[in-house]
Amino acid sequence: MYKTYELAHILIKEHVKDNDLVVDATCGNGFDTLFLSKLVPNGKVLAYDIQETAIRNSKALTKDCNNIEFFLTSFENINVSNCSCVMFNLGYLPNGDKNITTTKDQTINAISNLVNSFDVNPDMVIFIIAYPGHDNGFIESNAIDEYIKTLDSKLYLATTFKPVNQVNAPYLITINKKKNR
Ligand SMILES: C[S@@+](CC[C@H](N)C(=O)[O-])C[C@H]1O[C@@H](n2cnc3c(N)ncnc32)[C@H](O)[C@@H]1O
Repeated sequence: MYKTYELAHILIKEHVKDNDLVVDATCGNGFDTLFLSKLVPNGKVLAYDIQETAIRNSKALTKDCNNIEFFLTSFENINVSNCSCVMFNLGYLPNGDKNITTTKDQTINAISNLVNSFDVNPDMVIFIIAYPGHDNGFIESNAIDEYIKTLDSKLYLATTFKPVNQVNAPYLITINKKKNR
């Protein structure tokens, strides 16, 4: 079966059009940024990370792409309109400093800011890959699970794609605004 990031990529590919504005909230080593960049050859990727190493690694991996703008700042500062996808791949930088990781409070802040922006981003889907297998990730993913349960069921759809016979395996969360049919 698919790895969690592969599942995220498949769903993102289904949703995003080639001229869309999309956001990589945690560019890390740039693999998701590169994937997003190729999906929107006539659009743009905004890529965020709080670590210079991450921005540097991502720029190196995507050196042939000309549709990416990088931001060395927290994903709490994402402020976009007309964006179709925001992808969070949470946790710490692979092969980097494991003490620098996404945190419960910052992540919930960023997600709730985005939820509040659904009026200007009605087609946006938020994709979150959560990693409960490490201590901080366990706390963070529980907090996200609790937060998404509070979203108004008439306005929003929050979904988790979670293995049920594995212990603390990574999983995917999506949040979108419901459409009136
Ligand atoms: C699992 S890595 C991302 C992997 C990446 N998407 C890739 O394809 O290589 C998580 C990243 O989140 C970053 N991060 C942690 N807190 C953050 C924050 N508040 N805002 C933005 N990025 C953050 C870390 O620096 C780290 O690079």
